[in-house]
Formats: sequence, structure tokens, C-alpha cells
Amino acid sequence: MQNISAILYLVAAVLFILALKGLSSPASARRGNLYGIVGMAIAVLTTLLILDKPVLALIAGAIAAGAVIGGWKARTVEMTGMPELVAAMHSLVGLSAVLIAVAAIFHAGVEHTPVQKVELFIGAFIGAITFTASVVAYGKLSGRFGAKAVSFSGQHLLNLILALAMLGFGLAYFATDSQAAFLAMLAVALVLGVTLIIPIGGADMPVVVSMLNSYSGWAAAGIGFTLNNPVLIIAGACVGSSGAILSYIMCKAMNRSIVSVLLGGFGAEVAAGPAPGPGEAKPYKAGSAEDAAFLMANADQVVIVPGYGLAVSRAQHALQEFAELLHEKGVSVRYAIHPVAGRMPGHMNVLLAEAEVPYEQVLEMEEINADFSTTDVVLVIGANDVVNPAAQKDKASPIYGMPILEAHKARNVIVVKRSMSAGYAGLDNELFYMDKTMMVFGDAKKVVEDLLKNAVH
Ligand code: TAP
Repeated sequence: MQNISAILYLVAAVLFILALKGLSSPASARRGNLYGIVGMAIAVLTTLLILDKPVLALIAGAIAAGAVIGGWKARTVEMTGMPELVAAMHSLVGLSAVLIAVAAIFHAGVEHTPVQKVELFIGAFIGAITFTASVVAYGKLSGRFGAKAVSFSGQHLLNLILALAMLGFGLAYFATDSQAAFLAMLAVALVLGVTLIIPIGGADMPVVVSMLNSYSGWAAAGIGFTLNNPVLIIAGACVGSSGAILSYIMCKAMNRSIVSVLLGGFGAEVAAGPAPGPGEAKPYKAGSAEDAAFLMANADQVVIVPGYGLAVSRAQHALQEFAELLHEKGVSVRYAIHPVAGRMPGHMNVLLAEAEVPYEQVLEMEEINADFSTTDVVLVIGANDVVNPAAQKDKASPIYGMPILEAHKARNVIVVKRSMSAGYAGLDNELFYMDKTMMVFGDAKKVVEDLLKNAVH
């Protein structure tokens, strides 16, 4: 039986790795998801098979309850609500690591080896930090706790003291097997999860959620060692490393250091950046959807840059219809995707995939940036920071150094947004005031519907 379960766990682990590979591109994401589902089913069934006297009714009840809640959530969640849903799910991963560790510590008559004690200790405190930090992240992202960064002097010192206290209690548990010391360590870790996250502003949470994803994976891997369960170790390590890589990619795309994220305070710096003042009104050109449709229908090359506003207004289906119409008129239309456009990794890719935009029309920043100078019209729709030339030109700008889509190099630029107000980083955007730029004001969906009407005639 042991050999069979080892082989089945190996199959599950390979499927998890294939799932991650599949999820790295929208074209293969469905297949990746399927691999993940099959892998998880094999892992759960194998674990049930090797369990000594499993309480089947409880396990079946928990699986059924999870399936009902998960199925309902998956059907009802809005794309813009995904980051907070992910945060809520990570909190459960952290909580389960804590509960498993506590169960192992309080399991009467079980002696833990020194190595197991270290694994339990690490898995439990990472799980506890992940739990409370993810609950706060969920609260901030959903607006329930207010999205503001909470900072006070001595914050980093407090975090350091809490971290040292947590390690101290952990060492006490290691040396004396004291259950009380273990619980005290957990209590401090739960508080640390809150104090680490409160200085971070709500809109900056996606990077943190990805970090927490990574933490929850490492917590699961730590507990996997204690339970001597290879599939938990492998799945945990996959989640831990992919979350860490994703955080790194997001930080790089936003030109932030991962250390500043880990220290907290991330976002406060950006929130303090200069916002366009009321007295600084500069001239800009505004046009109608009719003008914009005319310009695009008579172009050879159009590149669409989608951003957060597209997601908010759910304009992707109408946009795809408009792009189709342009194609029929012989215009080449492609989409340019910035790695941090929107509010979560892959946000724009998912929206466009939902609207069934062909994958070959969707290009990443490195693939399309060189083409902007030969593009007739760029349609920037609900995007702002990801096309802000200040990131290349203004050394004093908080986003200086952030890679951008070089829309400003195109012959004509059309920007669709509701007003001249700033984007996520709170910064004015020089692109909006360029001679070649025409602003078309309105909700993205409404404007695209108007574009459609005008392009038909
Ligand atoms: P933003 O810079 O946030 O700009 C979005 C623009 O959309 C706003 O200026 C807003 O202008 C407009 N808008 C909002 N609702 C709209 C609607 N219903 N119809 C039309 N326009 C609407 O977005 P972006 O260019 O996508 O850049 C993303 C930003 O988020 C970057 O700064 C990035 O660093 C940050 N961020 C991203 C992530 C990830 S992983 N994607 C994570 C954390 C932070 P109006 O109010 O005038 O309409």
C-alpha cells in the first residue's frame, strides 16, 4: 500500500506542476486548471486510503460544505472582486496550517523529534501570520476595514519586538515542550500578521496577497514535513515559490523593491505622490466617440491599451465587438498588456479571454513596445499609470523607472476615461495633454457602445 500511495502522490505532484505550467498562459489555463483538479482529487483519495480509521462522515461533510461554498463563490464573484476572494482563501490556508499544528502538539502520547518540532513551529507561525494578515488584506480590499494605510512612529520597532517575542516563545517550546509556550508563540504571530499589514494601502494589497499566497504555501510545506506527507510538501513548495516569483514580477513591473513590501509601509510612499492640483489646469483636446470611431476606422494599425477602468465598467465584450468590426473594415487591431494593468496579475488577460479576444491579438509589453512608433492610433481605455511617460522622463516622479507601454510614441492617441483625474498612483499624466492626444470622456462601456454605433454607419 505504501508503494502505491507513493506512486499516486507522485502522479498528483506531477499534475500540480503541469497545472502551474498550464496556468502561465490564458491559452492553456483551462487545461492547467483541469490538471490541478485531477491532481487534487488523486491526492485527497490517496490520503483517505492510507488513513488509519478515518472519520469518513466528518471528512465527507467538510468536503461537501467546501464544494458548495466554493462552487457558489466561483459562480458569483465579479472579476474586480477576485483579489479579495483570493485573500480570503489564503486566510483559510494559514488557519488550517495553524489548526493542524495545534492538533499535532495536543495529540496525547505523541512525541515529536527535534526536527519535527522545528517544522511545526515554522509552519504554525507562518500560518498564523498568513491568517490574520490575509483577513486584514481581505477587509481592506473589500472596503470593510477601510483601505487606508495605518502608520505610526515606532511601527518597525514594534514589528521587530513582536518577531523576537514570537521566536523566543518558539525556542521555549523547543526546549521545554511547553504547550503554553507554543500557544503564546501563535498568539504573538497572529498579532504580527495584523501589524505587518496595516501600514499598507488597500490598492497596494495585490502584491501583499501574492506574498501571503507564498507564505501560505511554505506553511503547508512545513506542516507536510511533520505529517510526513510528500504531496503536501510538494504542493506547498509549488505555491510558495510561484507566489514568491509572482510577487517579484509584480514588484519589478511597479518598480518597487521586494524588501520595502516586506517591511510594510508599501503604498504610503505612492499615496503621498503629487496629485494634479486644481490650479494647474493645462490645455487638452476632447473629442466625441464619433471622432474617435472615424479616426480608428480609417487607420491601418490600431493598438488598444486596456486598464483598470475597463474592468470596472465591464466594457470588454463591447470592446471585442468593436475590434471585430474594425477587423472587418481591414484595420489591424491588437491589444497591449502591461503586467500590472488593472489590480491583479493577469487581470486584463482574463477579461479579454472572457470576451473571447483571440490570443494572438493580445501582446505583452515587451512584444509590442517597439511597434508603437509605427502605430496609427492607440486607444487607451480606462488605463492611466501604465502609459504615463513620467515613468521614463521625470526623475522626480514616484513611478520613475517603472516600465510603461510607450503609447506616447504612436501617431494618434485616444484616451477613454471619465475625467482628467489621476490613476492609482495619484499622478498627473502628460500623455493626456499631448497634441496628438484626444480625450473621450465617459464610462468606458458607454463610450465603446457609442464607438460601435458610429463605426457601423
Ligand atoms: P490606473 O492607473 O488605476 O488608471 C485607471 C483609470 O481608469 C483611472 O485614471 C480612471 O480615470 C479610469 N476609470 C476608472 N473607472 C472607469 C470607468 N468606469 N470608465 C472609464 N474609465 C474609468 O490603472 P492602470 O493604468 O490599469 O494601472 C494599474 C495601476 O495599478 C498601476 O499603477 C499599478 O502599479 C497598480 N497596481 C496594479 C496591480 C496589478 S497586479 N495589476 C497591483 C497593485 C497595484 P477616471 O476616474 O477619470 O475615469
